[in-house]
Amino acid sequence: MGSYKGEDQHRHHHHRNESNCVLVHGPIIVGAGPSGLATSACLKQQSVPSLILEKSDCIASLWQHRTYDRLKLHLPKQFCELPLLGFPHNFPKYPTKHQFISYMETYASHFSIKPRFNQAVIKAEFDHVLGFWRVKTQDFEYLSRWLIVATGENAEPVIPDIPGIDRFKGRVVHTSLYKSGSVFKNQRVLVIGCGNSGMEVCLDLCRFNVIPHMVVRNTVHVLPREMFGFSTFGIAMALVKWFPLKLVDKLLLLLANFTLGNTDQMGLRRPKTGPIELKNVTGKTPVLDVGALSQIKSGKIKVIEGVKEITRNGAKFVDGQEKEIDSIILATGYKSNVPTWLKGCEFFTKDGMPKSPFPNGWKAETGLYTVGFTRRGLLGTASDAVNIAKDIGEQWRTIKECNDSNFNYLPQRNVVQKVKK
Ligand SMILES: Cc1cc2nc3c(=O)[nH]c(=O)nc-3n(C[C@H](O)[C@H](O)[C@H](O)COP(=O)(O)OP(=O)(O)OC[C@H]3O[C@@H](n4cnc5c(N)ncnc54)[C@H](O)[C@@H]3O)c2cc1C
Ligand SMILES: NC(=O)c1ccc[n+]([C@@H]2O[C@H](COP(=O)([O-])OP(=O)(O)OC[C@H]3O[C@@H](n4cnc5c(N)ncnc54)[C@H](OP(=O)(O)O)[C@@H]3O)[C@@H](O)[C@H]2O)c1
Repeated sequence: MGSYKGEDQHRHHHHRNESNCVLVHGPIIVGAGPSGLATSACLKQQSVPSLILEKSDCIASLWQHRTYDRLKLHLPKQFCELPLLGFPHNFPKYPTKHQFISYMETYASHFSIKPRFNQAVIKAEFDHVLGFWRVKTQDFEYLSRWLIVATGENAEPVIPDIPGIDRFKGRVVHTSLYKSGSVFKNQRVLVIGCGNSGMEVCLDLCRFNVIPHMVVRNTVHVLPREMFGFSTFGIAMALVKWFPLKLVDKLLLLLANFTLGNTDQMGLRRPKTGPIELKNVTGKTPVLDVGALSQIKSGKIKVIEGVKEITRNGAKFVDGQEKEIDSIILATGYKSNVPTWLKGCEFFTKDGMPKSPFPNGWKAETGLYTVGFTRRGLLGTASDAVNIAKDIGEQWRTIKECNDSNFNYLPQRNVVQKVKK
């Protein structure tokens, strides 16, 4: 499956003026996160080789480079497993980020997945004449019949244009670059955004004698991570199999209010639509509380309404308050980067998400697939990866049968092959 060996073997037989065009015998997967790795492993099970192009220098780069130290999975490990190889038995119910990374590393080596690192895809386009995808990085143009988009829902940070932020003289950092509250010790910190990142960063800051002010401009559903010793997510998954969604939402909210109290009174107003229905309709994830709420109750985390403008050394808020602050943390979320590099394709929205909702978003036309764009976390990834591998596996076998009886289209050994332009 790995491309390096084959590629290096070829490199020895080529010279300086050779072409930068590489024919890939099997699908090209863009992104070596959990989605790219899972798809590559499932393809391998179908005896289909694949080539992963990864812009970073490692697998699971979001987890390795763009997450904070205290991050743990929110969902019990059985909901975060990739296909074909589960978590080690000795991992806790909620693995830490480091355990998750070590699982990813074991996964990649178990299936001998060797992505090509430092290959940022800058353009991919289907060549209707050739019937192949042309996938360009800074170094090469790769050609394949199949293109699998695995660049993630969280590819780029969302940096909102907040009035006055340019003149702020303190530090401004997005949560993707936040590691620990230690660098903000004793400071006055404004955290903008109250998703899971905003809440957990506030909680982390509390450990370093910071009183974070968390901006909550909108409604938000906060649920306990567990209820009566069972994961809230697990309870919800079980209930939706038997009961209508609206009823499940009502039940969850009843239990959440019982466990957490009335969050509206803490400045965290609940949306009118229930948490699961909201997730299904808009993709907005409920916050799973791991301790921030009790810090809000005790006044260690201050909840504050929307920001009106940032000043040189503070912020003015929509409720008329004004506060001095030392640093700003943008917990404002992430976005897909697909529109920046995938061209001539109607399958994605302008926000870089598949237009067809789950469970139909994994397959487009002309050999294009997507994995990990379901807004269902790693569970969605696992489902997409299995579907894609089955679908391409069937095509692969059909082509192979044709080859065996007609001409030798598929390679015998190498995944990649350099071709003259
Ligand atoms: C802080 C945080 C915590 C999370 N915790 C959980 C959790 O507990 N459970 C859960 O299910 N989900 C969680 N998620 C969601 C998370 O996105 C998924 O778990 C998972 O990382 C998605 O995997 P992916 O492979 O689809 O995307 P990613 O992990 O984002 O991987 C995409 C890869 O594509 C690469 N790439 C991007 N653009 C290009 C390009 N143009 N060319 C080449 N390579 C490119 C990136 O470098 C990256 O390595 C969390 C997200 C965040 C931000
Ligand atoms: N432990 C874990 O498992 C864990 C931890 C962290 C994150 N995650 C996951 O990672 C993904 C991203 O989470 P996230 O919290 O980073 O992002 P997110 O869920 O998209 O939340 C972004 C937050 O920023 C707010 N916001 C955006 N622009 C703003 C602006 N201009 N002014 C004020 N507020 C603004 C949003 O408010 P609006 O709602 O008003 O837009 C929202 O509250 C999610 O899937 C999440 O579940 C998981």
